Amino acid sequence: MNLSNTWSTLWRMALLALTLVVGIGLGQQALAQADPGSEMATAVPTVDADTWRQIRSGETGPNYRTSRFDSDYNLINASGESWRQLRNRWVSPFGLIAVGGMLGLIVLFYLIVGSKKLDEPRTGRKVLRWTLFVRSLHWTVATLFILLALTGLNLAYGKAVFRPLFGDGFWAAMMSGTKLIHNYLGPLFGIVLVILLLRLLHHNWPKKHDLVWFKKGGAMVGKGHVDAGFANGGEKVWFWLLATAGIVVIASGFVMDFPNFGLARDTMQWANIIHAIGALGLTAVALGHIYIGTIGTEGSIEGMTTGYVDETWAKEHHNLWYEEVKDQAIPEADLAAQREAPRGGDEPAPHSS
Ligand code: HEM
Repeated sequence: MNLSNTWSTLWRMALLALTLVVGIGLGQQALAQADPGSEMATAVPTVDADTWRQIRSGETGPNYRTSRFDSDYNLINASGESWRQLRNRWVSPFGLIAVGGMLGLIVLFYLIVGSKKLDEPRTGRKVLRWTLFVRSLHWTVATLFILLALTGLNLAYGKAVFRPLFGDGFWAAMMSGTKLIHNYLGPLFGIVLVILLLRLLHHNWPKKHDLVWFKKGGAMVGKGHVDAGFANGGEKVWFWLLATAGIVVIASGFVMDFPNFGLARDTMQWANIIHAIGALGLTAVALGHIYIGTIGTEGSIEGMTTGYVDETWAKEHHNLWYEEVKDQAIPEADLAAQREAPRGGDEPAPHSS
């Protein structure tokens, strides 16, 4: 099987898996939804005659208080109300500022500074940077992340946008589909992300030269470059953000996905706040990663699509790594011939990921 066949088979399999997951999601609502009966049993403390007497006398408790405003005597779930305020007054607006602000900053940066072009001409000789395995993992993680980010943003802000635009019926159907997709893809993303992180861990241990990289802002403005091994300082920050905040987002997502394991309502509320802060923050940073990986840096995307980068790119962006692999550089024509050959066109070199 040649390389393009392997690719298309892999993608077809990934697509099939994705379709299956979404299909199961749409077909079996009950699994991801909390069983309302059991949730009630764990979320609400027993309400007995004493509780009602307490409420009637105007006393307050940890899970309720009476609102005597306008003498309407409504029962209010105090902790639920605190969660609602925290979510609507703080998390949602600041999340929007983080994501929208990052988008604005990227556009400004691109308009003022522009993309980082290669200083020297390409040599036409290529070094292997990302194996087929890592590329497949990366693009699966990226696809799932984008789907989760879009559905997540819809869960957070969709009500304000789509309900007035399309009406209750459309909005309700859209939200229940969105929630199902989000609920099922979350755990899948968690599994694939952990595999990717484990695979890349050895490249991402902090080194002394990373400090210089940060001091010089990765030389993103102007000409010149800073010392970097396989991963530069910025990539290491992205890696460790995913390995810390990413794991917290996944764990808090699991808590919300499985309320049926005796989880209290307060736990779910905290999981929701933590999940939203982490996920919105990561979405903002992901926009920066996507910019740098595409129009922000000439030649970067080639590595993640074909596996190979030009020697000039390797020398300018990852000079310390280039010193280790320069003996393995292959002329572009030989690479094309290898790709046409039945097998072995994408064998990992010892120093590639
Ligand atoms: C359309 C979206 C994306 C594009 C175009 C993109 C592009 C890239 C490129 C070009 C690289 C290689 C950089 C290099 O060779 O030095 C890379 C690396 C990486 N990307 Fe993405 N990416 C995208 C989305 C994502 C997402 C959503 C995640 C995670 C949630 C992610 C995680 C990573 C990681 C962990 C690395 C490796 C950095 C390291 O060395 O540790 N990417 N990406």
